[in-house]
Amino acid sequence: MPQSPSPSSIKRIGVLTSGGDCSGLNAVIRAVVFRATQTYEWQVYGIHSGALGLMERPLMYEELNLSRFQGHMLRTGGTMLGTTSKGDPFHYPMPDGSFKDHSGDFVRGFQELGLDALIGIGGDGSLNLLSQLTTQGGIAFVGIPKTIDNDVALTEFAVGFATAVSHNRVMILEVMGRDAGHIAISAGLAGGADVILLPEIPYLEEGVITKLKSLIARGQNHALMVVAEGVEPTGGNKNDNRNGIGDYLGDVLGRRLDAVVRVTVLGHLQRGGAPCSQDRILAQTFGTRAVDMVAEGKLDRMVAWRERGVVDVALDKVVRQGERKVLTDGTYIRTARALGVYVGEDHMQTTAERVS
Ligand code: F6P
Repeated sequence: MPQSPSPSSIKRIGVLTSGGDCSGLNAVIRAVVFRATQTYEWQVYGIHSGALGLMERPLMYEELNLSRFQGHMLRTGGTMLGTTSKGDPFHYPMPDGSFKDHSGDFVRGFQELGLDALIGIGGDGSLNLLSQLTTQGGIAFVGIPKTIDNDVALTEFAVGFATAVSHNRVMILEVMGRDAGHIAISAGLAGGADVILLPEIPYLEEGVITKLKSLIARGQNHALMVVAEGVEPTGGNKNDNRNGIGDYLGDVLGRRLDAVVRVTVLGHLQRGGAPCSQDRILAQTFGTRAVDMVAEGKLDRMVAWRERGVVDVALDKVVRQGERKVLTDGTYIRTARALGVYVGEDHMQTTAERVS
């Protein structure tokens, strides 16, 4: 177990971003630096390229102070520290094709920099790896959840999600989100979609067709469909989906509906751009709280947003719980259904039951 350093013994902390980039990361880093340097008079080292910065030699890092954050850093997309979503430190790919356990270098890197604690900003996969690395090395650690997918357990919001959703003003689109449909359902509701497909609820091709035909029949000459990338084709060959579910459905609907279908795959666009106000506020709340937790010796925990405020939760519980999926009977799905949006097979069953 990591020793918890007393706040007065802390002189220097590290901060890193890990996994895919998203909006609001610079806002978190800025909040960590402001709080740590101004309130506690700690030095802050920004570790470059996620865990890699501590694994590589020479070590990759920079000292961060307030002057680094003049201008628009709060609103700037990406991460000033760089990040990586490749390379498990416990099973690290070597140039000769073999794999090596690099975790010891990470721990030694932390010690060589004279760090007393580490704050890691990451999604579920990164927090899991960082939790293992820091436990192994007895490193005082606090996690901050970030991911456009919003699928980290035990927190209602992760930094980056709100901005990804607010980018969705397009009407027929495939959105990211990995195996969770948070982006799809939020973007779909916000954009007034007629059909929203997410990985959590299997869809029926007939359900989509029926919904779209009913719109056409009542004189609507356009339809909005938001489809999560993790949706699998129903009744189709999985291989048909190799270009993405959006293209797959575009083909199917084009053939079956006698309508012109256009598909837009938003892809990585959603991860860039300036963070929206909700992400900027979340980022600063999380960043300052994480620094306070280090000061208070509240370690092996993750900051989280629950019931309108910031709290902290046990990191091992987050890791154990795994991916946070869309609640299939939750408010968003019920609202979509109440509006007549087709969100997957359950709805069709209900409709069928109602009709019969
Ligand atoms: O986890 C964030 C995310 O953008 C997912 O929504 C998506 O499935 C994945 O990363 C894409 O990964 P990559 O950037 O490696 O293509």
